[in-house]
Amino acid sequence: MAAELVKITVDGVEIEVPKGTNVVEAAAFGGIEIPVFCYEPRLGAPVGACRMCLCEVEGMPKPQATCTMGATDGLVIRTAATSEQAAEAQQGTLEFLLVNHPLDCPVCDKGGECPLQDLTFRYGPGNTRMTFPKRTFDKPIPISPLIALDRERCILCYRCTRFSEGVAEDGQLVAVDRGANSMIATFEEEPYRAPFSGNVVELCPVGALTSTQYRFQARPWDIQNVPSVCGLCPVGCNTSVTIRENKAKRVQSRNHPGVDQGWLCDKGRFSSGHLTARDRITSPLRRKRRTGIEEIDWDTALDEAEALIRGANGRIVTALSGTETVEIAYALARLLREGVGSSAAVLPEETSDALDPFRLPLSAIAQAELVVVVGDDPVVERAPIVDLWLRQARRAGAQVITIGPAGSLQAAPGTAAATCERLAGDRDELGRQLRASERAILIWSGPGGHGGATLAALAADLGFAERPGCGAFHLPATPNGRGVAEAWAAASDREDEGGEPIGLLIVSGDEAASDPNVRHLAEHAEHVIAITLFHGLAVGWADLVLPATSYLERDGSLVNLEGRVQRLRRAVTPPVPDEVAWISKLGARFGVEISPHPAVLFEELSPKVLGGVTYGATGDRAPLAPRPPLDATAITAPAPEPAPVAAAGSLQLVRYRALFSGPAVERIPELQFQRPAEELELSVEDAARLGIAGGNTVVVSSEGASATLRARVNRRLIAGAVRAAEEHVRELADSVTVTRGAGA
Ligand code: SF4
Ligand code: SF4
Ligand code: FES
Repeated sequence: MAAELVKITVDGVEIEVPKGTNVVEAAAFGGIEIPVFCYEPRLGAPVGACRMCLCEVEGMPKPQATCTMGATDGLVIRTAATSEQAAEAQQGTLEFLLVNHPLDCPVCDKGGECPLQDLTFRYGPGNTRMTFPKRTFDKPIPISPLIALDRERCILCYRCTRFSEGVAEDGQLVAVDRGANSMIATFEEEPYRAPFSGNVVELCPVGALTSTQYRFQARPWDIQNVPSVCGLCPVGCNTSVTIRENKAKRVQSRNHPGVDQGWLCDKGRFSSGHLTARDRITSPLRRKRRTGIEEIDWDTALDEAEALIRGANGRIVTALSGTETVEIAYALARLLREGVGSSAAVLPEETSDALDPFRLPLSAIAQAELVVVVGDDPVVERAPIVDLWLRQARRAGAQVITIGPAGSLQAAPGTAAATCERLAGDRDELGRQLRASERAILIWSGPGGHGGATLAALAADLGFAERPGCGAFHLPATPNGRGVAEAWAAASDREDEGGEPIGLLIVSGDEAASDPNVRHLAEHAEHVIAITLFHGLAVGWADLVLPATSYLERDGSLVNLEGRVQRLRRAVTPPVPDEVAWISKLGARFGVEISPHPAVLFEELSPKVLGGVTYGATGDRAPLAPRPPLDATAITAPAPEPAPVAAAGSLQLVRYRALFSGPAVERIPELQFQRPAEELELSVEDAARLGIAGGNTVVVSSEGASATLRARVNRRLIAGAVRAAEEHVRELADSVTVTRGAGA
């Protein structure tokens, strides 16, 4: 039903908006600004805390806070531009806010990009009447290793606490004490440890909350902001990278309403320091028979690479990370397939385009009435922003059901595919609800090769293709796994099996270089070329190491978990040639013409695998391609893989890759406190049976390997399973025994 339209008048301008529209928004719709501090629609209902939006309202004796007012027919508003009453009220508000606010703009990190500074210039008093000393506090207070709080600058707008409580729902930032003594603090002065904490720095309209990484690093007039996307997980949040003297100083959000709503996780926001890590490789390295490794120049490196590729006689396998741009993957595949007819690939995960007929923007989750998440992994660890969308859906009244080892409906580890099979059946109550709903969403969050295809079969069976409000998402483990797979396929029609034994293994990216399966392949390869950012990962076992670039240094594109093709823009000039440039040079040696320009490569491959989307269309808030029609004959549910079964007397170990892990995070000192605790989660039943209480030291063992961790009893975890972050249980098999160790 169309919303009822009403007419309001702001400064004499008649504006027609849906009834109930917030007056600040309605005025903006008519091109009229009403200044605000606390008003921020993404934080939920307005709270009217700061009084900056006071305006004269016809029929009311005193100025009113317009951010808490809905548009009604005939409402007449006058802002400071036309009303003396409003101008006086806004000036008074600013004078009041500045009573205790220090006038330290010249040394404040927010200076130059501060709403309080800007609005004071435009609406505030020209000078001060205050002659008494201002209130001071100890400063800065580190509320975490990432965020500093300068309390005397706080104007108590409650944006930060509303984010913590009402958006991220971490409840860690609170206002303590009352009245004039009220101030922002963390719960019991513990560090603000939560995956989305950095958003409060961006939300704070003054310099009270600042990033410890960015403090005193730059001023607004000596920076550039480069629009790009985050390359650290499959969400692909839209970002703005602040550059000063070719250094990435900070990453901020660039609100894509369909993807991220202007939020970033702390991994994406605070990881840019990896570019200048001390162990970054800046020149090619060659292994020497006796004397370790030596640095070589790029021409020699390309000679070496050419010799290794030719010497492999077509027995080449490339292990990809899923972090490459589509252009890098495409260029590399073309070089190998057209150059030497050999490009078998080990892809980081199985991805599928089968879900495209059920494609929706991530923002559709917030509108859903029923969301079912299947899989073993916590959503926040795989695709953090999806967790925020789920919370928003729940707050809006949606039923959000998670089915997994620690889900709201418990299921044994590795049974997501079986769950999908059950939901497709007529007799399952939840399946029936999914069939009946006009706004139902399915999400696969977990390991298992066939997630996308399995979910597609379920969505097809449930009739989602005919209901535009229903959709399905597969959360891949890598930022661009799908883009890489499609780009690789686009380089040739031919399937290539490589050959045994492997003559040359090309390891693309640090994630592949640290993957034990790839290391195992390397042991059986005659030669290895590794393309990595950091020392240590491949140096020692690769014959040739070619320095890689980071996502912040690349031009190109990434395909996110919705299937949205988004442009990555080079924010920083890398200290080494980028991959596409040297692959192009190497291609020339094999008679393969590969453009060194990502834009040209993109135009070449897009019609083949990306539906012909143009490079230009991927740049600014990239659109999501419409759903293709469902070809039911092309969708078959893969047979569920047998669920792992723990040996008798053992527990099933569920491991997940933690968000705060990986080569970039490992190199940021301020992010270390966010890394997963050395914990083992146990079910209530198993903890009781084994005589283990939360906080006890436990020894987890399997097949001669063991790890010592701290126990945490998780009331949601299914009996028979234990769960830990992958990095703490890497050496262990999936079937483990747990005993209480010495210590607490
Ligand atoms: S710290 Fe910043 S965001 Fe939080 S209440 Fe104070 S001014 Fe507002
Ligand atoms: S959610 Fe993913 S894409 Fe977004 S900032 Fe975090 S790591 Fe980057
Ligand atoms: S913006 Fe309206 S009271 Fe703060």
